[in-house]
Amino acid sequence: MRFDIITLFPNMLSSFFQESILKRAQNKQLAEIHLHDLHDYSQNNYGSVDDYAYGGGAGMVIGIEPVALCIDDLKKERSYDEIIYTAPDGELLSQQRSNCLSMLNNVMILCGHYKGIDERIREHFITLEISIGDYVLTGGELAAAVIVDSVTRLIPGVLNDETSALSDSFQNNLISPPAYTRPMEFRGWKVPDILLSGNHEKIEQWRYEQSVQRTRQRRPNLLNDN
Ligand code: ADE
Repeated sequence: MRFDIITLFPNMLSSFFQESILKRAQNKQLAEIHLHDLHDYSQNNYGSVDDYAYGGGAGMVIGIEPVALCIDDLKKERSYDEIIYTAPDGELLSQQRSNCLSMLNNVMILCGHYKGIDERIREHFITLEISIGDYVLTGGELAAAVIVDSVTRLIPGVLNDETSALSDSFQNNLISPPAYTRPMEFRGWKVPDILLSGNHEKIEQWRYEQSVQRTRQRRPNLLNDN
């Protein structure tokens, strides 16, 4: 799967994509992540890509020309399954949406900006608008990182043990059961006996019950959605 990310701040993202599971996914050639600096498409000598808002107020706005040129350039090379814009008023990102995105081949992400972008970009180029939560960030870079992270780990082969993505929180509208590792006892706090019993059937049953109980306590809306 290939991601092309258009941003004003490529440095904010490059190190994030060079660590941990995302790094491994790229090394295994299961994911390609390309960053494109919107400044490279500036139409003036100053390298700026924003301008005053028509009608006044609202500060500066990212113009349509550099964005259109960049998107056109990328589209010359390949066709895109989705062109995503990150914005607080987009669709709230969900595990279900990440699952769907992980089945695509080419995804472009245009990072939003606190100054706003010319509305015609959203109308004419964007196929999907995504928010990562009901709060406002200074820009869409963190949102793009979240999308790429949550999608890439779902690509078959990215996680060592494929079942570990299937048993994630939210994958079946349940949050994960608690997990423990050594030592068996720390400051008198013990690991539940059932996990030491060696009875795999009972352990699975216990984990399922814990998931349901936790979901009911912490995120009852997930159960109601069923
Ligand atoms: N840009 C600013 N805030 C955002 C949010 N919550 N989600 C996605 N993009 C954003």
